[in-house]
Amino acid sequence: MRRDAPAATVEIVPHSNARFPSNFLWGTATAAYQVEGGNTNTDWWRFEHRPESIAAEPCGDACDSWHRWEEDLDLAASFGLNAYRFSLEWSRIEPRHGEIDLEALEHYRNMLVACVARGLAPVVTLHHFTLPLWVADAGGFESPDIVTWMSAYATTVAAAFGELIAMACTINEPNIVAAMGYLAAMFPPEVSDWDRFVAVNETLRQCHHAMRDALHAGPGDFPVGMTLSMAQYEAVDGAEAALATYLEQMEDRYLVATTEDDFLGVQCYTKHQFGPDGLIWGGEGELTAMGYPFWPESVAYTLRRAAAYTPVPLVVTENGIGTDDDDQRIRYLDQALAHLDEVRRDGVDVRGYFQWSLLDNFEWVLGYAPKFGLVAVDRTNFTRTAKPSAAWFAAAVTERREKRR
Ligand code: BGC
Repeated sequence: MRRDAPAATVEIVPHSNARFPSNFLWGTATAAYQVEGGNTNTDWWRFEHRPESIAAEPCGDACDSWHRWEEDLDLAASFGLNAYRFSLEWSRIEPRHGEIDLEALEHYRNMLVACVARGLAPVVTLHHFTLPLWVADAGGFESPDIVTWMSAYATTVAAAFGELIAMACTINEPNIVAAMGYLAAMFPPEVSDWDRFVAVNETLRQCHHAMRDALHAGPGDFPVGMTLSMAQYEAVDGAEAALATYLEQMEDRYLVATTEDDFLGVQCYTKHQFGPDGLIWGGEGELTAMGYPFWPESVAYTLRRAAAYTPVPLVVTENGIGTDDDDQRIRYLDQALAHLDEVRRDGVDVRGYFQWSLLDNFEWVLGYAPKFGLVAVDRTNFTRTAKPSAAWFAAAVTERREKRR
């Protein structure tokens, strides 16, 4: 494992209306709810604890990263990375409407300072799937005030530590928030209604734009974008038109809404078939623990598709595999990075790659079963143990950083 990680020389060059690190960003990613533990004041916590919940198990203490975050950052730095993506928990920062928790802000500020001290450019996501209970109870993404509230939250974040942020993601996978929450009924608020799905997608784009503008107002001068879940879709049994309608909601309208942003975060894992009745989970051939195909080709496919729709720089803000077999993870990452190299050689403007995830963590409705981490976490005492894939990833990144690729 590389312990002498290169120092924090993230050179800054102007890009459009914000500033972009000139070094390619190599990182891993996590999200607050999935690793911190104890985020009781959220719609997700309530959803998991209902007796009839479809969630496999409650999140509980997750990886206890609320207390062990320094160890997490040490691990990320020890892999020779130069960036770390993590999210802020809105419900901790603003536990009740208009009430700001200064200790929570201090906690995240300390994390940002510690990232920079370790040579990790802090890439901060403001919303990663969870809502504070006061927002959920007021209608969540269907509340007439949601755009105002998210924009005010972004202003609070920038004021607290904007000068330390290297890059900000407003909303993580708004299309998954809408699809799982309002179409598949598998995330809170467990709705299945096409029209509400379409309306929430539109609202999420408005939230994103309002948050972007709030963050651009400073303090700080960092690139701002959203992250989008993308996949390689294939129509079967004559479902071409149905797939086009679905993709328009899931990807196309989001992609064209990014043209005034500083970047787009592309998050890709797999491919899906789409039939007359909608998305077909699973498929033939090798599958991952998520039950969908082993498909590292999705990296090249989704980056090229994104670049065809938007002129802004792209960052792979998530890519990885849920598996119990660490050799399978290495095989996946090896191929994924080869696809990344290939699209960059072809001139697609990609500025970073973040492996999902640093730790084995809480995989939403599936609980702790799928293992995405480079690092295993003992579920009884939270001891972290780097897997062979961590050393493999460190070497792959170091080789590319040395060649300045
Ligand atoms: C999400 C993560 C999730 C990962 C793996 C992405 O959709 O942003 O929170 O853990 O995929 O399923």
